[in-house]
Amino acid sequence: MAKQLSHISLVALAFFGLTFAYEPDALQDFCVADPNSSVNVNGKTCKNPTQIQANDFYFSGLHLMGNISNPLGLRVTPVTVAQLPGLNTLGISMVRIDLAPWGINPPHTHPRATEIITVLEGSIQVGFITSDPENRLISKVLYKGDVFVFPVGLVHFQRNIGNKSAVVIGALSSQNPGAITIGNAVFGSNPTISSDVLAKAFQVDKKLIDQLKGRF
Ligand SMILES: *[C@@H]1O[C@H](CO)[C@@H](O)[C@H](O)[C@H]1NC(C)=O
Ligand SMILES: *[C@@H]1O[C@H](CO)[C@@H](O)[C@H](O)[C@H]1NC(C)=O
Ligand SMILES: *[C@@H]1O[C@H](CO)[C@@H](O)[C@H](O)[C@H]1NC(C)=O
Repeated sequence: MAKQLSHISLVALAFFGLTFAYEPDALQDFCVADPNSSVNVNGKTCKNPTQIQANDFYFSGLHLMGNISNPLGLRVTPVTVAQLPGLNTLGISMVRIDLAPWGINPPHTHPRATEIITVLEGSIQVGFITSDPENRLISKVLYKGDVFVFPVGLVHFQRNIGNKSAVVIGALSSQNPGAITIGNAVFGSNPTISSDVLAKAFQVDKKLIDQLKGRF
């Protein structure tokens, strides 16, 4: 009996695990985001299907190089539900990442998506860090055609290690993956986190914290 019960609870666990997966299975062919609706369900409300057009499932421009004239040498061009309304409820999106020579995509995480990337041009170093308490860095150098995956939620980064611009295409397992950039969140929040908290958290002088805050 006990064995049977534990079997049932395992099945229940598996069921709930599936039910609470990141993005639920669609209940219709599509649900193109209605830009005129202010109603928010878990995602966007659907546009009237009789008014759907091919352009609702279309985006143009990923062949264009992003502007990398900035201190990081980085431009991320997203194609999420915000740019392509047909992605609503489909649990997938895309991104183009341009990196100047030695440019970086600083440590960040996508709270709602695993990200798989491929290098179209250049050579980059990538890495992600496993969660506490190991905090192990998993890192690799990638060349044209290489593919790498960043598991959902883990902090990761990319760096161009070549003398020419790098182009990376990524796919993400959410229509709205979100991004939390560690530096921006910790040192650039609005309003800012008390320097006392950060000085103690990082075990450094408050002056250094204020200096870092000034950068974000
Ligand atoms: C949104 O509203 C505007 C103005 O009423 C209308 O012209 C447009 O067709 C609407 N868009 C959709 C997708 O329903
Ligand atoms: C690229 O960004 C820089 C810095 O924001 C800006 O000065 C420059 O005009 C931009 N270049 C193009 C081609 O948009
Ligand atoms: C980058 O350029 C420098 C100087 O021209 C050269 O020594 C180096 O090998 C180049 N590195 C790569 C990765 O191409």
